[in-house]
Amino acid sequence: MLDINQVRQDTPHCRNKLFFNSAGASLVPTIVTERMKNYLDEEAELGGYKLGLGDRIQAELHEFYLEAAKMINTEPRNIAFSINATDAYGQVLSAIPFERGDVIITTDDDYTSNHAQFSVLYQRFRVATVRVRNLESGAIDLTHLLELIKEHRPKLVSVSHIPTNTGKIQDVEAVGQICSENDILFIIDACQSAGQMPLDVKKLKCDFLCSSGRKFLRGPRATGFLYVSDKALAANLIPIRVDGRGMEWVAPTKFKPVDSALRFETWEQNVACVLGLKESIRYANNIGLDKIWNYNQNIIFYLREKLSDISGMHILDQGNSLASILTFQVKNRGKQLTINILNKNEVYFSVAFRGSALIDFDKKGTDWAIRLSPHYFNTHQEIDQLVDIIGSI
Ligand SMILES: Cc1ncc(COP(=O)(O)O)c(C=O)c1O
Repeated sequence: MLDINQVRQDTPHCRNKLFFNSAGASLVPTIVTERMKNYLDEEAELGGYKLGLGDRIQAELHEFYLEAAKMINTEPRNIAFSINATDAYGQVLSAIPFERGDVIITTDDDYTSNHAQFSVLYQRFRVATVRVRNLESGAIDLTHLLELIKEHRPKLVSVSHIPTNTGKIQDVEAVGQICSENDILFIIDACQSAGQMPLDVKKLKCDFLCSSGRKFLRGPRATGFLYVSDKALAANLIPIRVDGRGMEWVAPTKFKPVDSALRFETWEQNVACVLGLKESIRYANNIGLDKIWNYNQNIIFYLREKLSDISGMHILDQGNSLASILTFQVKNRGKQLTINILNKNEVYFSVAFRGSALIDFDKKGTDWAIRLSPHYFNTHQEIDQLVDIIGSI
């Protein structure tokens, strides 16, 4: 069982508020902030190179790759640090040798920035995007996916594991199986799943998986990691934004790519952020992603049940398998009134807008929803308090 008292002690700032915004930017464990502050103090004294390039910090930086690899069941050579999920995603798109007329298969629920990048690819290179249908349940229609793969032979299949605007968990394992059987590159946007559930890239059979540190991973802002499969490395996929860290300059016009995912990084990094993210991933690994997941499933189920008893409550999430993101509106209560009451009561939450989930929100006939995203430092008692507040709207 997860030791909730210990977790809350490790996150003292969760106590004086109702924090339900881990899908936005979560609260970091104290150890993360401490490590970053200590590093910055030392850096101010010694200068960035003397400290950051020294053996001690280099060894500690290596621990970031070990911890991230452990979290998703891979090897450190398959991990790159990234400054956010969108940047990692763009790096991957730039590494795939798209040609005019190529196709990317995606879903109605993929993240805004991924769709935005597809639109640029279309404008520049006429790389088309085709969307797989959802079933009535909201799940990806796998039969349709297979049909689309046979018809288009896409260069890439892309799925956001848990969309930004709804708790739906996409069956990425089934998608990965289909992609691997058909030898198609597969990228998972695990921005909302990394840190809240176990991820095993061997089972997911993906070639790329990008994440964001500040969300359920509980790391600092402007951090994340990217997984790159051995298959993608062996295929010599190299992003356009590459530097001396990813390519060795061997002759005036000749570069040799390194044989690890470091190709997807650049040399200059905010070392304090990498160390902070390492601490947050280690913290989650030490607790165990299974325990975090079980706790979170319990607490989000409790929240869904309690909220659905409120008269006029309209929960927008669809799907048989739901994670720690819940979106709702209360009938006949406007956006501003709802926001004001939540703010007045020290509830931390997000507002999801049409622009962050356009296709899904248009289907649902709405342009906003309140998004709540509990995590394993939240308690049942906090949920009771939250439900009372929402009931008073
Ligand atoms: C599913 C999903 N993918 C990608 C992103 C973008 O992440 P980042 O801001 O780290 O680039 C988000 C952010 O909310 C998200 O929810």
